[in-house]
Amino acid sequence: MTTLDAALTGTFSIGGDLTVNRLGFGAMRITGKGIWGPPEEPEEAKATLRRLPELNVNFVDTAESYGPYVSEELIGEVLAPYTKGTIVATKSGLTRTGPDEWDQLARPEFLRQGAIQSLRRLKVEVIDLWQLHRIETKTPRADQFGAIAQLQKDGIVRHVGLSEVSVDDIKEASKYFKVTTVQNMYNLVSRKAEAVLDYCEANGIGFIPWRPIDGGNLESTSTEFKAIMDQHEASASQLALAWMLKRSPVMLPIPGTGKVKHLEENIAAAAIKLSDEEFKTLDRIGRQA
Ligand SMILES: NC(=O)c1ccc[n+]([C@@H]2O[C@H](COP(=O)([O-])OP(=O)(O)OC[C@H]3O[C@@H](n4cnc5c(N)ncnc54)[C@H](OP(=O)(O)O)[C@@H]3O)[C@@H](O)[C@H]2O)c1
Repeated sequence: MTTLDAALTGTFSIGGDLTVNRLGFGAMRITGKGIWGPPEEPEEAKATLRRLPELNVNFVDTAESYGPYVSEELIGEVLAPYTKGTIVATKSGLTRTGPDEWDQLARPEFLRQGAIQSLRRLKVEVIDLWQLHRIETKTPRADQFGAIAQLQKDGIVRHVGLSEVSVDDIKEASKYFKVTTVQNMYNLVSRKAEAVLDYCEANGIGFIPWRPIDGGNLESTSTEFKAIMDQHEASASQLALAWMLKRSPVMLPIPGTGKVKHLEENIAAAAIKLSDEEFKTLDRIGRQA
């Protein structure tokens, strides 16, 4: 039987003091179509959340804008009081006006309201990891970063992360607060964030790749890829996750699903140990794709 244990990935300490197993969970998919409203199968979404501690998944990523509010509310309802050292990371900085509609807003008063309301929905006294969903273009950066620093000073958020940023963005924000995580799109075939990942690794910053399980349909286009899948009796997305976990010790993938079966398939990737040779082959195939 396949081992289902997120602890097999080893741990990473967010901000040096919040230790989580490196394979986490993305809670954007426990909402309705277009990441809007409640999930089509609420009981299945709740069962998915309940399964997390049983699989030693103790790092959960969400945002006030998922639903909006639905994802945070379900997490608070099902997982609080949190066990097994579960850390919930949330975000603010995007508004929602309908399914698949997202706009940036990071005015200081909006960020502060967002963080304070997240506390209530997640049923926590402090947000362990709060992330700016996007650095907004209309509000001066000093205002956005200053507001975040104030949230930290006021004890509303413990650690701060950024999302979809460059190395220069991280350096600029670091003048206001310690950047403990960065969440950029990254997977085996989408490698634009390599330089940011290298910077994070060099500086002990957690790197949270979103859209992590995109394997790019490589199983049907590459015989080498298919051979490694067969060797490990793994699916393409499990291989993509295993590759990412080996890519860097600061890598914290958060595959997202609203289904127990898919969650279990994703966590099974923690048990896959790729050889250095297999890693290099996957790396090359992914870059070429
Ligand atoms: N910072 C940002 O800007 C940003 C942007 C997007 C996402 N995120 C975060 O990153 C997390 C992951 O990204 P993501 O959800 O977009 O992408 P993902 O985890 O790569 O893929 C999720 C998609 O794959 C399906 N899926 C998951 N496991 C599966 C499996 N074992 N077999 C078949 N299908 C499977 C899901 O549908 P089912 O529900 O049907 O399983 C869903 O459609 C999100 O949940 C969210 O927390 C952040």
